[in-house]
Amino acid sequence: MDHFFYRENRLFCEQVPLDQIAQAVGTPFYCYSEATLRHHFEVFEEAFASFPHLICYSVKANSNLAVLDALVRQGAGFDIVSGGELARAQRVGCPPERIVFSGVGKTATEMRAALEYGVLLFNVESRDELHRLNGLAGQLRRKAPVALRINPDVDPQTHPHISTGLRRNKFGIPYRQALDLYREAARLPHLEVLGLDCHIGSQLTALEPFVDASRRVLLLLKGLEREGILLRYLDLGGGLGIPYEDGRMPPHPGIYAGALLAELATSPFAKRHGTLILEPGRVIAGNAGVLVARVEYVKEGEEKLFVILDAGMNDLIRPALYNAYHTILPVARRFGQEERLTEVVGPICESGDFLAHDRLLPPFQEGDLLVVRSAGAYGFTMSSNYNTRPRVAEVMVRGDRFAVVRRRETIDQLMENESLFPVP
Ligand code: LLP
Repeated sequence: MDHFFYRENRLFCEQVPLDQIAQAVGTPFYCYSEATLRHHFEVFEEAFASFPHLICYSVKANSNLAVLDALVRQGAGFDIVSGGELARAQRVGCPPERIVFSGVGKTATEMRAALEYGVLLFNVESRDELHRLNGLAGQLRRKAPVALRINPDVDPQTHPHISTGLRRNKFGIPYRQALDLYREAARLPHLEVLGLDCHIGSQLTALEPFVDASRRVLLLLKGLEREGILLRYLDLGGGLGIPYEDGRMPPHPGIYAGALLAELATSPFAKRHGTLILEPGRVIAGNAGVLVARVEYVKEGEEKLFVILDAGMNDLIRPALYNAYHTILPVARRFGQEERLTEVVGPICESGDFLAHDRLLPPFQEGDLLVVRSAGAYGFTMSSNYNTRPRVAEVMVRGDRFAVVRRRETIDQLMENESLFPVP
């Protein structure tokens, strides 16, 4: 459920018409609905209500401070993957005991900052990382709280670029090495081994891979218990998909939670009142945001009809990178017009610069506004300055009000850190 809808054929975000924001802010811009964000978080939170849990929203999906602030005020924790994301979490006042630090390549500087802040868990992905963390914690005279991220070797049945839980992926500790590494970790003096983590991929639309992965890790937990290693946290990562196209519905968070909790119900981990951690990103933010763009030109090619926008692959790279489908809607809806197969493209000098390919759409003309839906996750956060294009503004709507929560970059800002080679 989201708060983008037509009223008298005008597309609204909550109580604000999108054309009104476009007029005030210019285009392109990302527009987020705060009520939708909050609703998605609540639904997810409630789905796990029957089990002790912590929901750590995955900051990489959308790290705008206003988004993080809205979620942290609802009790969300954060899953972070860099020192930058840690700084954002701190900026919005996320308590350290609600932060898990994931990622295969944490630097010493990042680890130190997270140790000093006192995060809940480091999700450690290799033996080398474990030893580095132990050393740094020793220098700071602290104990580092650790979970090992295990690669369960399960096929998530999603796009290869966003699969992470297969043996051939760079992520996690190989399943068969896990027991040995836990034994080793338990002997390191500056670590406190508290958890087990896994994350198998993103935009998953089937339940089976989640269920398979949780069975594999629960088995491992049992093995650990036999050795006296009793873990307090089980982190099952994120990855639940969202509907990008009408008709293709991934499981509702309630169904997803039901399936995971059924696996957990009879486990010794549940009997010991262990805490379950989840790291959802897309399912919280994805359908809470749209990209609003304006049509610059309409070009009748020899084979195709091109609608050329002022937004392109540098603003939303998902179609170019994953061939992802995003619904396109006109901001002003008109009826009774014949739809045609259309290429919706950006201004970038690459043929991969498209937002929709062979899409049946009503006619557009110069100056029309349209929205690219489901752009609240991995939209702005993956945008770039390619072609020296300033990154777009971000707007948050709350009821009948809106605010620019990130100003559009200026061209001067883009060149700020550059200089000519100094003259001797
Ligand atoms: N936890 C870890 C360790 C992750 O690597 C990710 C996502 C998440 C949680 C959150 O996953 P989610 O619930 O959002 O699926 N750029 C891609 C998605 C990359 C996902 C990376 N990791 C896209 O636009 O589809």
